[in-house]
Amino acid sequence: MQVILCDSAEHVGKRAADIVEDYVRAGSAVLGLATGGSPSSTYRELIRRHREESLGFSDVRAFTLDEYAGLAPDHEQSYHTTIRREFVDHVDLPLENLMTPQGDVSDLAAEAERYDAAIGAAGGVDVQILGIGANGHIGFNEPTSSLSSRTRVKTLAGTTRRDNARFFSDGEVPRLCLTQGLGTIREARTALLVAMGANKAEAVRAMVEGPVSAHCPASVLQLHRRAVVILDPDAASLL
Ligand code: GLP
Repeated sequence: MQVILCDSAEHVGKRAADIVEDYVRAGSAVLGLATGGSPSSTYRELIRRHREESLGFSDVRAFTLDEYAGLAPDHEQSYHTTIRREFVDHVDLPLENLMTPQGDVSDLAAEAERYDAAIGAAGGVDVQILGIGANGHIGFNEPTSSLSSRTRVKTLAGTTRRDNARFFSDGEVPRLCLTQGLGTIREARTALLVAMGANKAEAVRAMVEGPVSAHCPASVLQLHRRAVVILDPDAASLL
């Protein structure tokens, strides 16, 4: 695991964008996209490079990490809508190349299996962008998730539902989700985790210095062949 310390969120975004850009410029990249606040500075920097430095995404395919169960793709809080708003709609990545698990289907287990297979059929993810939850989750793999899990239906932890309630006007966060599993995420050729802020410091410490344990799902990245963790000073403060 390579840990890179940066002096600000903007700096984190630039270092992360450098790694993503290498894959995009190499051609036909498959990107793994995360939602949440953490990758915002990375997406802003990639959008800037698209506009000012002709970084093109027209032959890129992208898979998101997770989705809330019960929300249609065009729901304003679905992760499909979120990733379009935060990144995809601002670059030339064709919408048909954006894959997200579909949360409003009747058979969620079948959808999870289909999605996992689609990632494999695309040749796997080249670079998976990740944030980390305050409880150490990646994607929606909450503590006690199997370290070899595949894309599947999960129940959201109470803390995660409380953390994300601010995004829902009625405060009603779905109870279930679809998420790539830790085994799926581990297959990405590069795992690129960005974290900012003091509320992530304990989870970052457990991920980097703690034992590999399902109690901190992100610690599975210690076993990854190329995991890069990029931190601001607050997120790195307990290392
Ligand atoms: C969310 C997402 C994760 C994200 C994490 C942290 O619930 N499912 O993919 O990395 O929690 O979110 P944030 O970056 O907003 O702190």
